[in-house]
Amino acid sequence: MNILGIHIGHDSSAALVVDGRIVADVAEERFIRVKHYAGLPIRAVEYCLKCRGLTMADIDAVAIASKGSVPELNFLFDLHGAKEEKKASLGKAVDFARDMLGRPQLKPPLYVKNFPLAPRTEIIHVEHHLAHAASAYYTSGTREKQLIVTMDGVGDDVPIAIWRGENGKITKLQSFEPSGSLGWFYSNVTEALGWWHGDGEGKTMGLAPYGDFTKCQGVLDKFTPKYVKGELVEPHDFGRFCYWHEAGAIQWHFDEAAEIQPLIAKHGREHIAAEAQRVLEEQAKAIIFPWLEREQTRNLSCSGGVFLNVKLNQRIWESGRVARHNIYPNAGDSGLAVGAALYAYYQANPSAPIHPIEDLYWGPEYSAKEIENILKARHLEYRRVDNVEEFAAKKLAENKIVSWLQGRMESGPRALGNRSILMSANRPENKDVINARVKFREAFRPFCPSLLWEKRAEYLQNHRDEFFMITSFTAQKDKWDKVPAVVHADQTLRPQTVKREFNPRFWKLINEFGKLTGEQLLLNTSFNIMGEPIVNNPREAIRCFYDNGLDVLVLGDFVLEKKV
Ligand SMILES: [Fe+2]
Repeated sequence: MNILGIHIGHDSSAALVVDGRIVADVAEERFIRVKHYAGLPIRAVEYCLKCRGLTMADIDAVAIASKGSVPELNFLFDLHGAKEEKKASLGKAVDFARDMLGRPQLKPPLYVKNFPLAPRTEIIHVEHHLAHAASAYYTSGTREKQLIVTMDGVGDDVPIAIWRGENGKITKLQSFEPSGSLGWFYSNVTEALGWWHGDGEGKTMGLAPYGDFTKCQGVLDKFTPKYVKGELVEPHDFGRFCYWHEAGAIQWHFDEAAEIQPLIAKHGREHIAAEAQRVLEEQAKAIIFPWLEREQTRNLSCSGGVFLNVKLNQRIWESGRVARHNIYPNAGDSGLAVGAALYAYYQANPSAPIHPIEDLYWGPEYSAKEIENILKARHLEYRRVDNVEEFAAKKLAENKIVSWLQGRMESGPRALGNRSILMSANRPENKDVINARVKFREAFRPFCPSLLWEKRAEYLQNHRDEFFMITSFTAQKDKWDKVPAVVHADQTLRPQTVKREFNPRFWKLINEFGKLTGEQLLLNTSFNIMGEPIVNNPREAIRCFYDNGLDVLVLGDFVLEKKV
């Protein structure tokens, strides 16, 4: 059974689920090169079909992550007659695509590709938060009973929903009105700090450990809804807001952000960030813990953009109230295509087994021949290396910055060893070096480590199996000064633990580095410059390599070095 999942909106994406297995998932931004691109996922659909050699005639169902009708599908799948999607109501996050497609022309230009739907193919609508919930439950690896919590800004007019996953079925237990959005609260503080709502929240989280919330505790209370014992007791009127369309992406603006700004001037950026983080954690716990009790379970699955907040995830885990904690790593809206497709699959096959996910390598890959042709065409000096892991490990041990493109691109916002920029974490100054020479981003932002799964207990306190940089852990004390470039101000690490069978080449690289330096851990940041999507193909990797202070580029078995 072949199901094509689609999300159109902030982080438009497409995914292919074959017999319950995710075989492709990619956000359109990776092709069109605009972060958070919100237009039609045309290239993503094209990739999903191509990677399995399918045509639309092979697709049994299209699952769209939206409760309401999505008129953009009329063009994307050349719908007509009874199948046609009705005009959507106003105020949805697909305004951008509608602007592009609906006004003033009836159809996009003739050269824009579409994918005519076969008559037998069904279109299934999956509510936004249900798609988030499905991405978490149907990748949890178990059909056992679990509480599922989904939180974001707002999707299909819902900011937070509570679900029960059991025996392959998802049942809604509770959902809240937009006046209960914790995501909007956190994003408003983010906008007040000067960053994009819907993009900069990780910066707020990164800044928070430098602050002290006791210096301004309570000053943000009037900007947030309040939850007690799992229920919304004080809804918040978020006031006026609008969409801001910028370069193909949707951003949001709330007037309230302007009211928060003077508080930042008065109390200090880092203290306000710390207070926002405290409020988010306290409020999220006030929802999640009572619901765990009501449901009599210690199994928790989470998804939705708020759960990209790794510090929140750490607090939940450290509470000791959760025995099995599963967070879908592509928790934001780019994970909705997968969620919608999985939901449609399990609706049709309710007794099918639920598989755990072992990796997120669901994007495009490039053969050795393709890579070499690209290098030759550009008259670049390169060489092929027999043992590229050993070669790169040696360069890293010499404190070089290595960019690394291998195999299929990762789905989701984190680089997991296939589109990565790597450096030794063993020197404290390397964080500043990589920020200044390569990433051009704020000095306070932490970098993540990738470490051998076998060594996780040596690096992480209170650890569990966690492969996707979706939660932080407190670092073992004796490692604080051994890998200082990845230990954050609050002594935490946000790790990818690398299992040999999940990514043999990346595992070997870290192992070789360990042989040379004694640390089986590397600083791993996404292969891009701040503000740009992660590179997809070798050509983009080459452009990125020559646009900053990277030392070494590894493309498959081919290596390029800059002469310094
Ligand atoms: Fe969402």
